[in-house]
Amino acid sequence: MQGNRSFVLVSRPRGIPSESDFAIRSHRIPEIGKGEFLIRNHYASIDPAMRGWLDDRPSYLPPVAIGDAMRAGTIGRVVASKAPGIKLGDWVKGINAIQDYSVGRTGDSNRPVDPGRVTSMSHYISVAGGAGLTAHVGINRILRPVAGETLLVSSAAGAVGAVAGQLARLAGARVIGIAGGADKCRRLTAELGFDHAIDHRGKDADTLLAELVAAAPEGLDMVFENVGGPGLDAALLHLKKHARIALCGLISEYNSPPIGARNLKELVFRSATMRGFTLLDFPEEIAPATGQLIDLANSGAIICAEQIEHGLDNAFQTFLNLFVGGTSGKLILKLI
Ligand SMILES: NC(=O)c1ccc[n+]([C@@H]2O[C@H](COP(=O)([O-])OP(=O)(O)OC[C@H]3O[C@@H](n4cnc5c(N)ncnc54)[C@H](OP(=O)(O)O)[C@@H]3O)[C@@H](O)[C@H]2O)c1
Repeated sequence: MQGNRSFVLVSRPRGIPSESDFAIRSHRIPEIGKGEFLIRNHYASIDPAMRGWLDDRPSYLPPVAIGDAMRAGTIGRVVASKAPGIKLGDWVKGINAIQDYSVGRTGDSNRPVDPGRVTSMSHYISVAGGAGLTAHVGINRILRPVAGETLLVSSAAGAVGAVAGQLARLAGARVIGIAGGADKCRRLTAELGFDHAIDHRGKDADTLLAELVAAAPEGLDMVFENVGGPGLDAALLHLKKHARIALCGLISEYNSPPIGARNLKELVFRSATMRGFTLLDFPEEIAPATGQLIDLANSGAIICAEQIEHGLDNAFQTFLNLFVGGTSGKLILKLI
C-alpha cells in the first residue's frame, strides 16, 4: 500500500532550527470514519509562525508535539469522503500538516474552496490566505490609511508585507518598504508599486534612520511592523505626532532571545499608538476580505507575489529560508 509521508518534528530547536530537528516519516494512509474525509494535500503554507509552534509554550495555537507532523495551512483535494456536504474531488483549505494525506472532519478548520474563483489554487494560501488576510486587517482595521499619508512596511517583499504595501497604495498612501537586498528592493518599486525601498542588509538603526529621513522628510504616519530590531528602532525615531503602528510580527526575534525595541519612549513624546494584532481578532473579516482580495488579484490590482518550492523532501530547507532572507513573496511548498 502507498504510504503517507509526513514532515515530523523530532526535537525542539534552540535558536535557528536544524535539519536534525525534523524527519520525513511514512505511515499507512489513514482510514476514514463517519463524518471524515481524506485530503490529498497539494500546497502547504510555510510561515514564520511555525517557529513559535516548535517551542514548548503556548502561543495563539498550542505547540506541535514531538513526533507529530508539522502543522501547516494546506490546500488539498478530497480523495475519499464519509462526511455530509464534502464530495470526492472537492478542494478544501484548512489547518492540517505538511504531509501527503490528512484527515478532515465535519466541523474542523477545513472548508471547501471554489477553484473557479482563482487563477491558481495557491492564491488561497497567499493573497487570499492567512498572509493576505493579515495584511488586509492590519491595513483596513488597524492602520486605516488616508490618502496622502506615509506608511513604512518592514519585510516588505515578504508574504504579508507585499500585500500590506499594495493595499495601502490602493488607499492612496505613499508607501516605503524595507527589504533585504537589491533584488527585493528593485522588485518593490518596479513590480509591486512601492514608492521607495530601503535595503536593510548590514545597516544599523542610525543608517536606516538617515535613509528614512531622506525618503520621507515629513515623517511616518503609519508603520506596518513585521520584523523588529534596527528597522523598528529607526522608525520609532521618525514618527509623526499621533502616528500608528500595527505590530504584526517580530521575525528578527523568533530564533533568539528578545532584542526589544530601544526607542519606545518616542510613543509617549509623539502620542503615538502601537497595537499588536492577529487575524484571529477579526473573524468577521475573513469571508468578505477573502472575496475582496481574490477580486483584486484577479483584476491585477494586486500582484500576487509567491515563491513556490517543490516536494516534501524540501520542507526543511524551505522553512529555513524564511529566517535567512531566502524568500520573496508568500512561501509555499507544493507537495504534488
Ligand atoms: N499577526 C498575525 O496574525 C500574523 C500573521 C502572519 C504573519 N505574521 C507575522 O508577520 C511577519 C511577516 O510574516 P510573513 O509570513 O510575511 O513572512 P515573510 O515576511 O515572508 O518572512 C520572511 C522574510 O523575513 C525577513 N527576515 C527574516 N529574518 C529577519 C531578520 N532577522 N531581520 C530582518 N528581516 C528578517 C526576510 O526578508 P528580508 O530579506 O527582506 O529581510 C525573510 O525573507 C512575521 O513576523 C510573522 O510572524 C503575523
